[in-house]
Order: sequence, then structure tokens, then C-alpha cells
Amino acid sequence: MNRLDDAQHLGPDAHAASGPGVNETHPKAAQLAQDGLRPPPSTEPFYLSTHDEIQLFEHCHENGLAVMLKGPTGCGKTRFVEHMAWKLQRPLVTVSCHDDLSASDLIGRYLIHHDRVQWQDGPLTTAARLGAICYLDEIVEARQDTIVVLHSLTDHRRTLTIDKTGEVLEAAPGFQMVISYNPGYQRMMKDLKPSTRQRFVALDFDFPAPEREIGIVAREGGISHQDAETLVALAGKLRAFQDRGLAEAPSTRLLVATAQLMKRGIGIKRACQVALVSPLSDDAGLLDAMNDLLDLSLA
Ligand SMILES: Nc1ncnc2c1ncn2[C@@H]1O[C@H](COP(=O)(O)OP(=O)(O)O)[C@@H](O)[C@H]1O
Ligand SMILES: [Mg+2]
Repeated sequence: MNRLDDAQHLGPDAHAASGPGVNETHPKAAQLAQDGLRPPPSTEPFYLSTHDEIQLFEHCHENGLAVMLKGPTGCGKTRFVEHMAWKLQRPLVTVSCHDDLSASDLIGRYLIHHDRVQWQDGPLTTAARLGAICYLDEIVEARQDTIVVLHSLTDHRRTLTIDKTGEVLEAAPGFQMVISYNPGYQRMMKDLKPSTRQRFVALDFDFPAPEREIGIVAREGGISHQDAETLVALAGKLRAFQDRGLAEAPSTRLLVATAQLMKRGIGIKRACQVALVSPLSDDAGLLDAMNDLLDLSLA
């Protein structure tokens, strides 16, 4: 395969830092560089802790331990990592995993220019060089042969062997691997191997307790405490629909979206229909039942 074509397979979700000269021939890669690598945020990303996860993460960081975040979608995993990057003042490199993601997408590849060939670090290599936090979101979506390249970086070696250039890169101080996934989505085919799992400290995430979730929804959505209370109470009832076949519970993210519509003047029932209930399912029976619940609760 032509390696330049290969480079174009970076895809919209794989973010890489570029070396000099890439802009001339590969504007997309330059764009990705701007998107994926973030310097430590100067202002604190709002994150309300639910347990002792901030303290545990700090200890892991100090000891160079890799961390896995397990929990349903929209419960605050990404926000937590952004918050920790700020707290620890580390750059953050984020990669959204998918089944096309290759080891080269993570490590890097040669780019062919008209007059030369140039090596371009992938996001994992960039993070290891800079001592950044490297966050691989939805790790179980990636293939095993891609995941395996993380192994030498997540044990005592803290090295990355770049076969194509012959470099053995020692991760800079501060480098930390963080992965996340939603155990609810897992199928046997997509389980992590024990040899991968046992390199990580696991932090379990779930939706925040009602009082905390009310605080998050009020703040993130810009609505009153009372309105947030109504939404969170409703979410509690909708989450019970999981026993009736609803695949995924309405998340804190959906509650925030609903609140944001309300803040713009959309009535609470309409905002709930479009932002809280309808995204959850295409099953007509379930949707009817959930909309009936809205009618009853918000009468
Ligand atoms: N503990 C929390 N503190 C602050 N905001 C939160 C928290 N949990 C969820 N949120 C809100 O929910 C949204 C979705 O969270 P996110 O971190 O993207 O979820 P995940 O990565 O678990 O899918 C965030 O953008 C934020 O508005
Ligand atoms: Mg996320």
C-alpha cells in the first residue's frame, strides 16, 4: 500500500501530532494534530467527584500506573480525564478507538512528500515523548493486534519499540496510559485479554447519586436546582426501563442536553421528548411507554 494513502486512514477520530513539514502535503494530518493533542487546560474543567477517584488517580499517576475507567456512556469518564490533566498539569492526547484503528495509527508512519520521506509520530508515540496522559476511549472497539502495542508502555519497561524506525522510546516522566470502555456493551468477542487487563488499575464509574447529578445538571445545563431535580427524578424512573428491555440507561450527558434546551426556552416536556427519551430507542412500544411516563410525571 502506498504509505501516503495509508496515512489518510488516520480517520476523523485518531488524533496525531504532526512533525514539521506535514502541513504542506497533508493538511488533514495537521488538522488532526491541532485536535488531538491538548496542552494542560488553563482553566479547571468542571468535574464533581463521586467517590475517591481523584485521589486514586493521583496516586496512580505518581507511581506510573496505567488506569482503566469502566462505566456506561455519558457518566463523566472523559470529563474526569480532562479534569485530571488539568489537576496534574499534563498535556492530554485523546484517541477514540474503532475497529479500523491500526498499530501504525497509534505509533506513527512514514509520509511521502514529493522530495522526501518523513516520519510522523502517531498519538501514542507523541504522548510517550511528551510525558502526556494518553487517553484511549472505547478501547474494546480496537483490535487485539492494535491493543497489544500498549503492553510495553504499561508495565515496568515503560518503553515503546518503533519497528519502522528502529527506535526504542522510553516514555518521558509524567506519561500515563488511560483507557475507558463500557462493560455493558461488551460481547465475548470484544472482551479485553487478561494480559491487557492486568496492566491497569480499574476505576468503576456509574451515574452520580441524585444530589450530585442535580448539581451537575444545574451547573452544566444552566437551569435552576428545582428544574434539575425534576429531570434527575425523571431519569431515575426512565433508568428502570432497563428491566423492560431498554439497552442503555439515559445518561447524565442526555440530562445536560435536555437542560440546555430548557435553558434556551424549550418547554420541559418537549425537551425531554427529544433529548432524553427519543435518543434511547427505536422500539415503538418502549418509546410509547416512556412518553406516557413523561405525560404522567410532568402533567
Ligand atoms: N462527575 C461529573 N462532573 C461534571 N460533569 C459531568 C460529570 N458526569 C457527567 N458530566 C456531564 O456529562 C457529560 C458527559 O460526560 P462524559 O465525560 O463525556 O461521559 P463519558 O466519557 O463517560 O461517556 C459531560 O460533558 C458533563 O457535562
Ligand atoms: Mg467519553
